[in-house]
Amino acid sequence: MTAAVPNLDFSAIKNAANIVEIVSETIQLKRVGKNYMGLCPFHTEKTPSFSVSPEKGLFYCFGCGEGGDVLTFLMLRDGIGFIEAARYLSRKYGVAMPERQLNPHQQRRLQARERQLALHRTATEYFSHTLEHPRLGKPARAYLKQRGITAETSQTFRLGYAPDGWDRLSRRLNSQGKALEPAIAAGLIMARNEGGGHYDRFRNRIIFPIVDVGGQVIGFGGRALDDAKPKYLNSPETLLFNKRRMLYGLPTARTPARQKGVVYLVEGFFDALALYQHGITNTLATMGTALSREHVGLLKGFAQRVNLVFDSDAAGIKAAQRSAGLFLDAHVEARVLVLPPGHDPDSFLFAEGPEKFQQAADKALGLVPFLMETAIERNGLEIEGKVRTVAEMKPILGAIRDRVARSVAIKTIAERLQIEENTLLDEVRGAMRPSLERSYSGRNGNSFARVPDQRPDPKSAAVDPGIRFERLIVAMMINYPLSLQDIKERNIIEHFKDRRLSQLARLIADESLSGVEPLMTRLEDPDILQLVASLMMDSQVPEKEQWDAATCSKLLDQYQLMLNRQGSDWVSRIKAAESSGDEELLAELTKQMLAEKQAQTQQPKLEK
Ligand code: CTP
Ligand code: MN
Repeated sequence: MTAAVPNLDFSAIKNAANIVEIVSETIQLKRVGKNYMGLCPFHTEKTPSFSVSPEKGLFYCFGCGEGGDVLTFLMLRDGIGFIEAARYLSRKYGVAMPERQLNPHQQRRLQARERQLALHRTATEYFSHTLEHPRLGKPARAYLKQRGITAETSQTFRLGYAPDGWDRLSRRLNSQGKALEPAIAAGLIMARNEGGGHYDRFRNRIIFPIVDVGGQVIGFGGRALDDAKPKYLNSPETLLFNKRRMLYGLPTARTPARQKGVVYLVEGFFDALALYQHGITNTLATMGTALSREHVGLLKGFAQRVNLVFDSDAAGIKAAQRSAGLFLDAHVEARVLVLPPGHDPDSFLFAEGPEKFQQAADKALGLVPFLMETAIERNGLEIEGKVRTVAEMKPILGAIRDRVARSVAIKTIAERLQIEENTLLDEVRGAMRPSLERSYSGRNGNSFARVPDQRPDPKSAAVDPGIRFERLIVAMMINYPLSLQDIKERNIIEHFKDRRLSQLARLIADESLSGVEPLMTRLEDPDILQLVASLMMDSQVPEKEQWDAATCSKLLDQYQLMLNRQGSDWVSRIKAAESSGDEELLAELTKQMLAEKQAQTQQPKLEK
């Protein structure tokens, strides 16, 4: 189960929230019968397969398999946690958060968060005020002008100015009678070592408020106006701010990135501003850290493709090597856009204009081809060169955790170098980190960091008649509580092959959690939530009213009949082969099983 909020009842908030309205903030929905349909915001598609049921309070995408309730939707859409999603709804619909049930530690944390957010609001206002101030803001306005930043861009990004002087912000907060602790905790002011009093973190710097998807300022970046060191200074890591999880430009990038399915990723604040100002609004920036797995997860929530923009070949190669595994694992397509020597995106756009930039973007190669081509350029295609290229690509391939992604990459490289795929595969096996091979176990606390190879394919799940039965049975358990007893008596669940379906079935059976609502309130694991949504939105699954005792026992009879016919227990044999690591046996068993399945093309049907 994921990090959770146990013992909290969010049903009031969920009930007040209108899932159709919330989803409509992001995509256009059209009514189709009882449900609404639209283009999925979580993957690229041309025909709508994203479905929302206001009645059930659920959404499900038949294309990519994302699904859940209104909270899941917000968590996925905005890359936020459960509590943040609930707070958003609580504010929007005026329903109180169930705070009294938080334990004292959680309560303190939440209050500290709120205090810091309020402080950041005050500080943002102060900085932007100062930028506008006729006298104080003058050098900053001149600096922005010299860098080509328009007033519109400056306002959109809520830029500000921290004036010269040691303690202007500290004194101001003091004079307003504001407590200084949140400002100290936020790293905006620091206590002097000697003589008491405080001094400001940001002095004589352009201020870039760092805004999260919810529109809240959670930190600041500051660029020196002169040659002061360091050139850039960020807020320290706080309760609110974590560079490894944040990207700059979320409020402006989010909608255009979703619409285009592409996001540009640059390295600097001014680069982000430059792209935006030249009409490339689907742009985000890292803030002086290497790209992290969390960043990729966040990006994935916005677009299926990321164009990485780098100043030079060398920078591009280094970053591409570091991040290739992250993108490939997340099944996010990434391309590398390299600018001519001496340019960064900011200088390039102002010097050459957006058309030239677009041309460079059109020429951008995928990560693996980019790394391979640059390696081939260096090493040539003679034998020794190929050997060196393979050696260079090895650690990159070895870092890909997802098997499918890895074999695709291996194929690409083998074809380009004209070497045997198996030879390359053997090489790569040696480079694979064993700890990563098996133990990677899922979301790292974040709803959006889905592990691709565990992601159910909604289409293939529907094909296997066994799984099809299991889905029908679990749907029945949810919709028709009276079936639970029969299911327990017949030991149905222990025959289930699908891990998640059996997990869900057990939960329902053990806790008598029939009905969508009690179930959704109790569920914390986003994968299981998604599964419930996929079941409840499945048109092959009968609606609640259609279940009765006769249908129930008929379904269970059919399922048991199928089990008897199947006889041989493929699943346990395959599982054994898998855990013993016997790849040959595994392949053989899989082949046999598929052949047998094809032979019994019988599909479950519900007939009375
Ligand atoms: N950065 C940082 N700390 C530094 C230098 C850089 O955090 N001391 C981060 C900033 O987010 C910066 C990005 O890394 O925007 C890229 O740095 P760099 O390429 O050095 O600067 P530019 O963005 O080109 O800055 P400018 O155009 O303002 O000179
Ligand atoms: Mn620059």
